[in-house]
Amino acid sequence: MKIAIIGTGNVGGALATQWAKAGHQIFLGTRDLSKFEDKHLLENPNTSLHTLADSAKEAEVILIAVVPQASESIAAQIKPYVSGKIVIDAMNSVRTRPEGFNNSFDALKHFLPETEIVKCFNSTGFENMQNPVYKGEGIDMFVAGNSVKGKETAKKLALDAGFGACWDFGGDDKTALLEAFALSWINLAIMQGHGRDMAFKIIRR
Ligand SMILES: NC(=O)c1ccc[n+]([C@@H]2O[C@H](COP(=O)([O-])OP(=O)(O)OC[C@H]3O[C@@H](n4cnc5c(N)ncnc54)[C@H](OP(=O)(O)O)[C@@H]3O)[C@@H](O)[C@H]2O)c1
Repeated sequence: MKIAIIGTGNVGGALATQWAKAGHQIFLGTRDLSKFEDKHLLENPNTSLHTLADSAKEAEVILIAVVPQASESIAAQIKPYVSGKIVIDAMNSVRTRPEGFNNSFDALKHFLPETEIVKCFNSTGFENMQNPVYKGEGIDMFVAGNSVKGKETAKKLALDAGFGACWDFGGDDKTALLEAFALSWINLAIMQGHGRDMAFKIIRR
């Protein structure tokens, strides 16, 4: 798949690397080409650097992993190129939220109304995206949103990144719950001091 990565920090960098290793073509999108700092990502196979708009233009799937308050500005830049594509929102409003919205998903839905958007890759720490395997087993990822095509794509990409499974968390009405789920991981890992080397996995009887 051709994947645009908008936000090449902890989350975008981890997923860009995993997906490049899995054989996907990666279009890193950055605000300012001359100030791009994550140059190590260009050592990954099939990876190239573009402006935000050009990365979206080239891709079939667009991952957004920036600060949530940038949702409106990102949406404006990629809007001409999102038709028929999947947008994956990996953002959480931990400290800041988009002005006028509760979270990034609501903002993206508002500014990109006809677009297939899902929320995924937000519910665990970036270290678990760099390496989702614990004791030989892939940990779980979760996806929410109304877009059936978007969920199928995100699930495939979760498996390609090394996750063991990607659970359907529900429709658009469950994206805020998925964000609260991410905050639960943050609470356990950071606030309760259990450490970031921990992950959620569903088990069944
Ligand atoms: N860290 C985690 O473990 C984790 C886990 C799950 C979800 N998340 C969520 O994922 C998102 C990214 O987190 P992160 O830890 O990857 O952040 P990060 O390492 O600080 O990277 C943020 C990226 O966003 C870009 N960016 C910032 N403001 C921007 C703007 N106004 N327009 C365009 N690009 C902008 C930065 O580009 P520059 O380099 O140009 O500043 C950078 O590439 C956040 O919403 C976070 O809540 C984080």
